[in-house]
Amino acid sequence: MESESQTTAQSRGLTVNEAWSLLLAARDIVDSTQKVSPCGLSHGQEVEGQVAVCDITDSACLLRIDNERVWSDCTSLPSDAQALLDLYLPFLNPGKNNSTVIGHIGQSLDAQIATHTGDAFFVTGPENRKHLHCMRALAHAVIVGVETVVADNPQLTTRDVVGEHPVRVVLDPSSRMPEDAGMLRDKSAPTWVIQGSDAEQGDSVDENITRICLPLKNGRMQMRDVLSALAEKGASRIFVEGGGLTVSGMLTENCLDYFQLAAAPVFVGTGRSSVRFPTVMSMNEALRPPYSLYRMGADVLWNFDLRDVDASESGIASRKSFDASLDDLPAIERLF
Ligand SMILES: NC(=O)c1ccc[n+]([C@@H]2O[C@H](COP(=O)([O-])OP(=O)(O)OC[C@H]3O[C@@H](n4cnc5c(N)ncnc54)[C@H](OP(=O)(O)O)[C@@H]3O)[C@@H](O)[C@H]2O)c1
Repeated sequence: MESESQTTAQSRGLTVNEAWSLLLAARDIVDSTQKVSPCGLSHGQEVEGQVAVCDITDSACLLRIDNERVWSDCTSLPSDAQALLDLYLPFLNPGKNNSTVIGHIGQSLDAQIATHTGDAFFVTGPENRKHLHCMRALAHAVIVGVETVVADNPQLTTRDVVGEHPVRVVLDPSSRMPEDAGMLRDKSAPTWVIQGSDAEQGDSVDENITRICLPLKNGRMQMRDVLSALAEKGASRIFVEGGGLTVSGMLTENCLDYFQLAAAPVFVGTGRSSVRFPTVMSMNEALRPPYSLYRMGADVLWNFDLRDVDASESGIASRKSFDASLDDLPAIERLF
């Protein structure tokens, strides 16, 4: 009979916690060096959650990275651990222009992200909110528009999961971020405020806060300029968390590699709008990007793959056929 200590990660299958430890170890490897040699990751045989670097030919290898810095899984895993890797591993791989940018919106079934007073607590359920913390933990930087800071005063930390806080980035062309915003005071992670080049600079001497100035055209900054400014400062894995205007800008300027839309079974009436796309005249012209689907508690998340899609113009992209009932969807329910 197999003893408790012999029950290894491989023999009993990978738990969700172990899959998350693998993802964090994979993130640390890509972030530690520019030139990665192919290697693998396996689970330590004795301590749960311990991750070891191994040869890609090792039979215990669970994840491997190639010369192009692309991670892939080596073996099929229990379904919830596999769902975790399927959803999060692509974030660690280089996307367009060597950065990876993922947008997320949590919306009601009538496409609202908050009530008309700006109340967004909460549109989606606790599973989706934990997913946001996972995305932050894998990101170098998380971006929000200033209206989200005004409405929500968010912390944008990873307090619900194991993992480092990302840099918090606020798009604030007219310097209207409230001076008492938590992100300007809490020091849990750096905060970068992106302003218009003619904006009032203020005289902050807080080393936790960096102000970056970008040129505006008709009051707007180009999202490519935003991403280049972040890349110059070493942030290339970017999570765009909202609100609707900011994610829409990233979408229509073709800056997103993936767009995650979580729909919650709730109706809000007239509120704050979710993402906006260019108008089309016929359904033939509508954008149908390939996607994968996940269930998060009562919510459903579409993970749209936009890497080969031009979202600035409409047009049909191939649709991955997905013939599953809700019960069959990979469930990201037992997140840690
Ligand atoms: N359910 C969710 O997933 C979710 C997520 C986040 C937030 N929210 C909610 O959404 C609401 C806010 O969303 P929102 O769509 O109204 O606003 P938002 O995206 O949070 O912020 C929009 C503002 O950010 C600045 N901005 C964004 N892109 C810019 C660009 N390319 N160039 C220059 N400035 C840019 C502009 O500031 P200026 O106006 O100063 O020009 C713009 O008006 C809040 O009620 C919040 O609670 C919901």
